[in-house]
Amino acid sequence: MKHILFALFFMGLVQSSNQQLSKRWDNGKRAKLEYQMTKIDYDWPSETTRQDFINNKSYIAVNNIISAIKVWRRKIFITVPRWRPGVPASLNRLVSKYGRGQSKPVLRPFPSWKANKIGDCSALQYIQSMEIDPNTNYMWVIDAGRLDIFTDNPRNLCPAKIVIYDLQTEREVDRYIFPNSVVSRSSNFLNDIVLDYVNGSVGYAYMTDTFDSKLIVFDYVKRISYFFSHKSMLSEEEGRSLTVNGLTMTISVTINGIAMASDFQYVYFTSVANFNTYQIPTSLLRNKSSTAQNFDASLRNIGRRKSQTAGLVYSSKNNMYFASLTTNAVLQWDAGMDAEFAGGFGNVSLRSVRQIARNDVKMVFVDTFGIDEYGDMWFTATKSHEYILNVIDISGKKGTNFHIWRYNLQPGEKSYLYNANRRTRF
Ligand SMILES: *[C@@H]1O[C@H](CO)[C@@H](O)[C@H](O)[C@H]1NC(C)=O
Ligand SMILES: *[C@@H]1O[C@H](CO)[C@@H](O)[C@H](O)[C@H]1NC(C)=O
Ligand SMILES: *[C@@H]1O[C@H](CO)[C@@H](O)[C@H](O)[C@H]1NC(C)=O
Ligand SMILES: *[C@@H]1O[C@H](CO)[C@@H](O)[C@H](O)[C@H]1NC(C)=O
Repeated sequence: MKHILFALFFMGLVQSSNQQLSKRWDNGKRAKLEYQMTKIDYDWPSETTRQDFINNKSYIAVNNIISAIKVWRRKIFITVPRWRPGVPASLNRLVSKYGRGQSKPVLRPFPSWKANKIGDCSALQYIQSMEIDPNTNYMWVIDAGRLDIFTDNPRNLCPAKIVIYDLQTEREVDRYIFPNSVVSRSSNFLNDIVLDYVNGSVGYAYMTDTFDSKLIVFDYVKRISYFFSHKSMLSEEEGRSLTVNGLTMTISVTINGIAMASDFQYVYFTSVANFNTYQIPTSLLRNKSSTAQNFDASLRNIGRRKSQTAGLVYSSKNNMYFASLTTNAVLQWDAGMDAEFAGGFGNVSLRSVRQIARNDVKMVFVDTFGIDEYGDMWFTATKSHEYILNVIDISGKKGTNFHIWRYNLQPGEKSYLYNANRRTRF
């Protein structure tokens, strides 16, 4: 089963062309490259510790890649997925180390090294993503509990869980362990999370499981979890061939990107290997008794995109942002405009889509987004395709690999969670 999953997941290099990359810097006026890294390194307690980790293969630089980004009060949180062995810490803060007149961005394990210890189920095992609620200053972290999931020998060390940290104290304030019947201990790929506000506080969290093709619901009040499965969460034939900067791979990645509307009425989701974009009402997700037939009847395919995509994010001004992986670009869907046209969000379709940023060298494989409390949208460009195809070059000869961008949204445009406590109060 594990082997089949892996084989299905990435079937490898199909073709590589020597296409000359455009060196044109066409970021759009509002996008700024904040950090770039050739390889991922950490803020080690000492150089000796770093050497020890290298010697016993607990740090294998080439297996480290960045994925999710969330920013809170100018602190930048970054995940390093434990897809392959040798990732010393999965949840981190980006900090700058100064030496010899230069500053170098490195990752400092969050909240600590100990909290990222492999094999300790009270600690974080593999974090793909997280969400920060600016109303409570809580960070919601999803932990798949499994390691090395992109290898032939995944290690199913711990059950999947949600861990909540209060960022003001950097203390854990809550955790929820998923039952195996909801999030499988041996096959899950817990990928992304959004929060749902009801009557002034967080009522639910919705998560995607990219291997088991599930939309998982955590009812925060009742402290129960359940999930929905539907064919919309799978890959499709046309979506399985993905070409990024001349490298083509065959993928079968299912439900991945998820976004919550700022009025908390609808959730949007996409699969990587699928061009369709789906909308489902939260009223259905909030109800544990909703059946598969209810799901099918309430689901809307709002339109096909021109490219595969990964993470999604929705803003307080009814814009949804996502990547166009095949064109090294970020797109904006103006859902508000389309809702006016359609006579409500319940009838919208993906019409008003435009490119807001593009860069063929440093905006390659845009993965996830996070909007901070100042209205800056941060996103990672990770060259995931090169990592997966084992052709990523961390020597520096082919330039930098990991890029962190900050995009200045329109004045007053914030995260979907902005003022959610006040806006949803009964
Ligand atoms: C590798 O070495 C470091 C530093 O001594 C230690 O903390 C860690 O537990 C070791 N890991 C393994 C898997 O032996
Ligand atoms: C929100 O509060 C109102 C008034 O107290 C109540 O009727 C309603 O059931 C609440 N909604 C939820 C989902 O808890
Ligand atoms: C939840 O869904 C079930 C099954 O469709 C339905 O019978 C029930 O009325 C729903 N509950 C609410 C509160 O909508
Ligand atoms: C969609 O539009 C139709 C009229 O064209 C309307 O009857 C229906 O209520 C709308 N649905 C939603 C969910 O807004």
